[in-house]
Amino acid sequence: MLLEDLHQIAAKEREAHQRLRYCVSVCVAAGCLSSHSDAVKESLTREVAEVGLRGYCQVRGVGCLGLCSGGPLLSVEPEGVLYQGVKPEDAEDIVRSLDEGRLTHLECSPDQPFFKRQVNVVTENSGRIDPERVEDYIAAGGYEPLVKALTEMTPQKVIDQVSRSGLRGRGGAGYPTGLKWGTVSKASGDTKYVICNADEGDPGAFMDRSVLESDPHRVLEGMVTAGFAVGTSRGFIYVRAEYPLAVKRLQVAIREAKRLGLLGNQICGTTFSFDVDVRLGAGVFVCGEETALIASVEGKRGMPRPRPPYPAQSGLWERPTLINNVETFANIPSIIRKGGDWYASMGTKKSKGTKVFALTGRINHTGLIEVPMGITLREIIYEIGAGLPEGQTFKAVQTGGPSGGCIPEQFLDMPVDYESLAQVGSIMGSGGMIVMDSSSCMVDVAKFFMEFCMTESCGKCIPCRSGTAQMYDLLAKITQGTATSDDLALLEELCDLVKHTSLCGLGQTAPNPVLSTLRYFKDEYVAHIKDKRCPAGVCPCGSAKEVSA
Ligand SMILES: Cc1cc2nc3c(=O)[nH]c(=O)nc-3n(C[C@H](O)[C@H](O)[C@H](O)COP(=O)(O)O)c2cc1C
Ligand code: SF4
Repeated sequence: MLLEDLHQIAAKEREAHQRLRYCVSVCVAAGCLSSHSDAVKESLTREVAEVGLRGYCQVRGVGCLGLCSGGPLLSVEPEGVLYQGVKPEDAEDIVRSLDEGRLTHLECSPDQPFFKRQVNVVTENSGRIDPERVEDYIAAGGYEPLVKALTEMTPQKVIDQVSRSGLRGRGGAGYPTGLKWGTVSKASGDTKYVICNADEGDPGAFMDRSVLESDPHRVLEGMVTAGFAVGTSRGFIYVRAEYPLAVKRLQVAIREAKRLGLLGNQICGTTFSFDVDVRLGAGVFVCGEETALIASVEGKRGMPRPRPPYPAQSGLWERPTLINNVETFANIPSIIRKGGDWYASMGTKKSKGTKVFALTGRINHTGLIEVPMGITLREIIYEIGAGLPEGQTFKAVQTGGPSGGCIPEQFLDMPVDYESLAQVGSIMGSGGMIVMDSSSCMVDVAKFFMEFCMTESCGKCIPCRSGTAQMYDLLAKITQGTATSDDLALLEELCDLVKHTSLCGLGQTAPNPVLSTLRYFKDEYVAHIKDKRCPAGVCPCGSAKEVSA
């Protein structure tokens, strides 16, 4: 497969597309599928045949269109019209309205801030291509960056571009990607590995799942490019078995890429070969931690081990291993295509490019969004998310999942970047963003995340195994209205101890939700302890209403 071959496939696809009068793209990613978008697609296909539009109107399944709260979603090209809340019985009206050139009541404007305020790099093809057709990806410019890297660049030049881009790992810690690639490339030994971390265990997070379901070739292309850059021909994708659609689309993508010689032996007629295997995880949060993940791929129990040595020096089967997150790899094709400087022109001084977030909670528009680093929380929540439903007041936004924190209103104008989030006691994490209103009790929120960490602790080290359980018990006591101020002091002491003495990131960050809620919402803890009252009326110790009555 050479550049000309790719161009030929792309031209053929575009020609076929131009012959169509309409292209109806129905979201068949997990969010819309759960509200039966597959039935919508079937019904539309039937209707198109009945009206006699076959040959002029194509109905196809695409990945996530982003506005999950409006699902099932579909878009109609060339008009660029988006329909939301579509049911199978709406198919007749939609198809006939297309035939007659009028629009239906279901239409929603793609000009609204939800779409206009986003910058789509990783999600540029989401909702625009059929994730199960490699030709669609190629027609959108896919695999050109890989061919460019293999035929026009040296491995060092690829690493240089990634370094120039300023891309930082999107799995949570934000380690500079170029630096990691450089370390693995320089590590001694003939056998090395590339691993894509698609474990995504944070509650409420669905960024990586969506990228894999919507544009799996982009992730594969990023991995193959990485393999070329660091000098290895073997890769693994570790994905949780609870993501069956992502797994299926990955497997289809691997098969299709192999068929076209974009994966496997002597890629694009060069001497470079690269193969990828999918490994299924059992849905264990700690298996997303890189050393636990490596143990799991090796067939051992998924437990973290002390670092150093870091996987870049000694990872899978004690060989140098490059491990990156799904979104990190998905950024690579665009960086190679447009250059590191282009990527670095977006974002802030230390946090470059864009970030994908799963926006959920008490907000009008929930869904998957991609925004430039440095955008403010207020812009995300009130412009893209269209604010909270009527009558509800903003209380906090939780970022970073169980390792993150709750950010109060006073920081809404803060830029979203690694440093600013850390400064206010939270983290970027992998991109979960949950908006909470006054009906959320912050002690209860902290208890929820602590219960998650306690359950997911692998038990290898005592501070985390025993500390998360003790902290959970104390939080439970507070919510039941039976705690004393000594219990609160003990909770604070334990937070400090577990944070500083746990072996891996799970234990080290488990106290964060408690620490951040204590920092900004201590009055709620005090109300539970002193007044035996839950101000939000959530906890069993009693509600504000009961106390005032
Ligand atoms: C408890 C725990 C769970 C993690 N889960 C994930 C995960 O699901 N996906 C991920 O990419 N990184 C996860 N990480 C971070 C990985 O250890 C690692 O830093 C990351 O995969 C590196 O890729 P990046 O540099 O592209 O971010 C987790 C870390 C910890 C401590
Ligand atoms: S910190 Fe927790 S999850 Fe990590 S190794 Fe220790 S017990 Fe296991």
